[in-house]
Amino acid sequence: MTYKIALLAGDGIGPEVTAQAVLVLEQIGTLYGHKFEIEPALIGGVAIDRTGVALPPETLKLAKASDAVLLGAVGDPRFDDPKVSERPEKGLLAIRKHLELFANIRPVKVYDELAHDTVLKPEIVRGIDLVFVRELTSGLYFGKPKKRWETTSGRKAVDSMYYTEHEIERVARVGFELARLRRKKLTSVDKANVLESSRLWRQVTIEAAKDFPDVTLEHLLVDTCAMSLIRSPRDFDVLVTENTFGDILTDEASVLAGSMGMLPSASLAGIPACGTCTFGLFEPIHGSAPTIAGKDIANPIATILTIAMLLRYSLALEKEAAAVECAVSNVLKAGYRTCDIIGTNAGAKQVGTIEMGSLIAKALKG
Ligand code: IPM
Ligand code: MG
Repeated sequence: MTYKIALLAGDGIGPEVTAQAVLVLEQIGTLYGHKFEIEPALIGGVAIDRTGVALPPETLKLAKASDAVLLGAVGDPRFDDPKVSERPEKGLLAIRKHLELFANIRPVKVYDELAHDTVLKPEIVRGIDLVFVRELTSGLYFGKPKKRWETTSGRKAVDSMYYTEHEIERVARVGFELARLRRKKLTSVDKANVLESSRLWRQVTIEAAKDFPDVTLEHLLVDTCAMSLIRSPRDFDVLVTENTFGDILTDEASVLAGSMGMLPSASLAGIPACGTCTFGLFEPIHGSAPTIAGKDIANPIATILTIAMLLRYSLALEKEAAAVECAVSNVLKAGYRTCDIIGTNAGAKQVGTIEMGSLIAKALKG
């Protein structure tokens, strides 16, 4: 079978890490007899440079005509000036919104081999296996009014944490469905002691729970959640939360896994029923890391793990997805590490982006 994948490498380390992910995808094709037509397109700072906009219409058209989109990263300090109106990040937000990919799945799994090499105690992080469902197309990122203006009493700015019950319900359902396939516990994270949007979030989540009597629902305030994630992360199974809360908490959660370079993500419009698939956008949770771009030191594992999610959710190729995850685990077991996860293990062998990618591609089993 032939699958069409749009490749939006983006800025900074985006092209380096996606190149290794593509290598892994192509090796899966060879081993399992699939053909992947990979078509590149522009997004982010590189798109602004060449076309003037962060998400050119051709890129969106290609994404819509593909089975899945693989995205590297966007962001470039050249656009950091607050006066700049077209920023690389605008392209990423626009593609998520245009494609209506409201559920961003961010699994956090700690590999046993890395449990000794995070900044936390091994007994805290060993065995962590949790999943964030971050609402991705509404909330504080998109709510209106959203603007900056000048008044006689000084400059002002507003962002709005806006939600409709429909937006909350559909993402809560994704959380429940995922929990049902796992350890059947869903933590809904909000700030219901202060925010109206969170009080609606909590109400709608409780209503949705009626359809999932087999799943235990708990509510946690976002500040408490930030603390519990570090203190007792193994208590969590699936967490569902607002766009900005999810952005912040998943960066925090990457510390549990050893590095931002370890966490993949899938942006979907729902969880496909067993054996079926759905269109999705797949990207590592990390950014473009401009300071290490072009040095062959970025960790490509997060992006390679997004390939596993792409195979699983958008192509319904579960065996192939598991093969990618197994290859990553075996390469870590063999002691290979990029510099972000090198830790203090005396037996570790430090490798660069390209070598890590080739090791994982070679470790794939058909
Ligand atoms: C992420 C990133 C993006 C976000 C940025 C680059 C716009 O931080 O995917 O977590 O905030 O969603
Ligand atoms: Mg982020």
